[in-house]
Amino acid sequence: MIKVSVIGAGTMGSGIAQIAATKGHKVCLYDTFDGAIENAQKKLNKILNRLIEKEKITKEEKENILNKISFTKDIREIKGSKLVIEAIIENLDLKKKLFKTIEDLVDADCIIASNTSSLSIASISGACEKAERVIGIHFFNPAPLMPLVEIIPSVQTSKKTMDHAKSIIDSWGKITVIAKDTPGFIVNRVARPFYGEAIRIYEEGIADFATIDWSLKELGGFRMGPFELMDYIGNDINYTVTETVFTAFYYDSRYKPSFTQRRMMEAGYLGRKSGRGYYDYSKDMPKANQDRNLGKKILWRILSMLINEAADALFLNIATKGDIDLAMTKGVNYPKGLLSWADEIGINNVLEELKKLQEEYGEDRYRPSPLIKRMVKDNATFY
Ligand SMILES: NC(=O)c1ccc[n+]([C@@H]2O[C@H](COP(=O)([O-])OP(=O)(O)OC[C@H]3O[C@@H](n4cnc5c(N)ncnc54)[C@H](O)[C@@H]3O)[C@@H](O)[C@H]2O)c1
Repeated sequence: MIKVSVIGAGTMGSGIAQIAATKGHKVCLYDTFDGAIENAQKKLNKILNRLIEKEKITKEEKENILNKISFTKDIREIKGSKLVIEAIIENLDLKKKLFKTIEDLVDADCIIASNTSSLSIASISGACEKAERVIGIHFFNPAPLMPLVEIIPSVQTSKKTMDHAKSIIDSWGKITVIAKDTPGFIVNRVARPFYGEAIRIYEEGIADFATIDWSLKELGGFRMGPFELMDYIGNDINYTVTETVFTAFYYDSRYKPSFTQRRMMEAGYLGRKSGRGYYDYSKDMPKANQDRNLGKKILWRILSMLINEAADALFLNIATKGDIDLAMTKGVNYPKGLLSWADEIGINNVLEELKKLQEEYGEDRYRPSPLIKRMVKDNATFY
């Protein structure tokens, strides 16, 4: 089995190291900051103990996993790796510097991957002489539990690198999808209206947080409502992703961040982690207005925007239709793939809703994807 190295022992890096070691790889987990390695070691020990309590692993398996991981502050220990996954802080200059250092240490056939959420793989690859071996391997948090991994070849990545990277991650029991090197890849792009349109509906005074959340859960079958989910992710993190995607898309108004969420972040109302976000977690949860007609309107508006985003991703060849649907069901637990959902409710109905919104508001944000218009004209379905 190949040796795998993970650079950065934070939230994502330690999770990725846990997966690789569990799958039997010799793993080198490196971090440069004081305390980071020790923290990762403590955290992993706790997680494995919990798995023993839940009878998911035995004591012996825990020892095997820990014995496979070398926790280190010496980057030279990555020598001999055939796969290096970088998961340091989201900073392009730091990542580029690091990629150059990694390339100088590993063999010519080692794949060097980044777990970046928002930077382009092409820009990171630019730091390497053999850019064809660089690729994006994007895990979701918590990495050991979330089944989806987005594989992102850049314009420089070779097919051999892509196939090999995919086969390694597949062998870890993950569900892989291939995404184009564009902002937000699949999930963080297609999911934007789930948050943005929900906030917009609230801002217009159509419904409160609890009612919008109820509509999406009760009538749409989503596991969490948008406001609950933003509070869970953290308003600081969720706002930053939206702003990054918006900026990276040359300020396309479809991805425009909202003042409502920005003020939440500025006020320190980050969500569950700060005890208060859209909801105040020290109090009872507010009651939703369970008016089914209102709920259906809310669901329909958000769902139409989500389907439009998924269709546009397909239109622009960001991924295959199967991968777009898989990404949303396995990466963010949507109850159905958005494109098969569109077939079910009728793509013509989605177009009607988008046209109605665009006419009413006169905003580019509601423009229907050319693919949806074409399909309605041709009476076509996604599947
Ligand atoms: N947190 C998420 O939900 C999530 C999900 C998917 C992808 N990502 C991406 O994963 C990466 C890491 O995110 P995170 O949430 O784990 O961050 P984190 O802050 O928890 O961990 C980053 C770690 O990198 C270390 N580090 C910083 N500079 C370093 C360097 N030059 N060399 C070695 N170690 C260094 C830090 O000490 C820290 O331990 C980012 O690129 C992020 O965009 C995050």
